[in-house]
Amino acid sequence: MIRRVDPGEDAVIALIARRMRLTLMEVIGPEEGERMHTMEWLVDRVRFHLDPARSTAAVFVAHAEPRTPGELGPIAGHTIVRIQQEDAGVVGLFSTTYVAHEHRRQGFAHALLTTGEGWITEHGMHTAATWTAADNAKLIALYEAHGYAITTRDPPMVRLERRVGCAKGVT
Ligand SMILES: CC(C)(COP(=O)(O)OP(=O)(O)OC[C@H]1O[C@@H](n2cnc3c(N)ncnc32)[C@H](O)[C@@H]1OP(=O)(O)O)[C@@H](O)C(=O)NCCC(=O)NCCS
Repeated sequence: MIRRVDPGEDAVIALIARRMRLTLMEVIGPEEGERMHTMEWLVDRVRFHLDPARSTAAVFVAHAEPRTPGELGPIAGHTIVRIQQEDAGVVGLFSTTYVAHEHRRQGFAHALLTTGEGWITEHGMHTAATWTAADNAKLIALYEAHGYAITTRDPPMVRLERRVGCAKGVT
C-alpha cells in the first residue's frame, strides 16, 4: 500500500530522514554519506517537500503487509518527487528513493516509481527525471526498466529521463 505522508507525521518524517542518510551511505560510501548532512538538515529537507509554500512536491511511503490485519504494515520504502524548474523547462524530479534491505526485490521501488510518475503526470509534466551515482547499477536498472535513459553524465552523477503521460520509451 502506497500513501502520501502528512506534515504532522513527525515519526515518519524522522524515519525518512534517517533513510536518506542510509541512502547516501550506501551510494557514496559510509563515511562521506554519514557526514554529508546533519539530521536536522535531512528532516528539514523532507519538510521542504511537505510545505506547499516551499515546494510543489509529494512524499510517498510504501507499506509492507501488516503483521496484524487492519493495521498499517511497516514502512518498506519511500520516494520524494517535486516539480523542478530547470533551464530547459519544468520537469518532475525524483529527489530520493530508498527501500529497506529486508523489503528489497519485492517490487516496492517499482511501485513507488509508478506512483511518482502518476503524480508527475497529474501535475501536467511531460518529463520525469532523476539523478544518481553513475555506479548505482540497481537504481539505473530500475529506471531503465521503466523506459528511462541516461541523458547527462556529470561525473560522478548521471541523469535519467523519460517522457511521461505517453507510452514507455516514446521520446
Ligand atoms: C534501488 C532500490 C530503490 C531498489 O528497490 P527494490 O524495492 O529492491 O526494487 P524492486 O524490487 O522494485 O525492483 C525493480 C527493478 O529495479 C532493478 N533492481 C532492483 N534491485 C536490483 C539489484 N540488486 N540488481 C539489479 N537490478 C536491481 C531491477 O530492474 C528490478 O526489476 P526486476 O526485479 O524485475 O529485475 C533499492 O535497492 C535501494 O533502496 N537502494 C539504495 C538507495 C538508492 O540507491 N537510492 C537511490 C539514490 S539516488
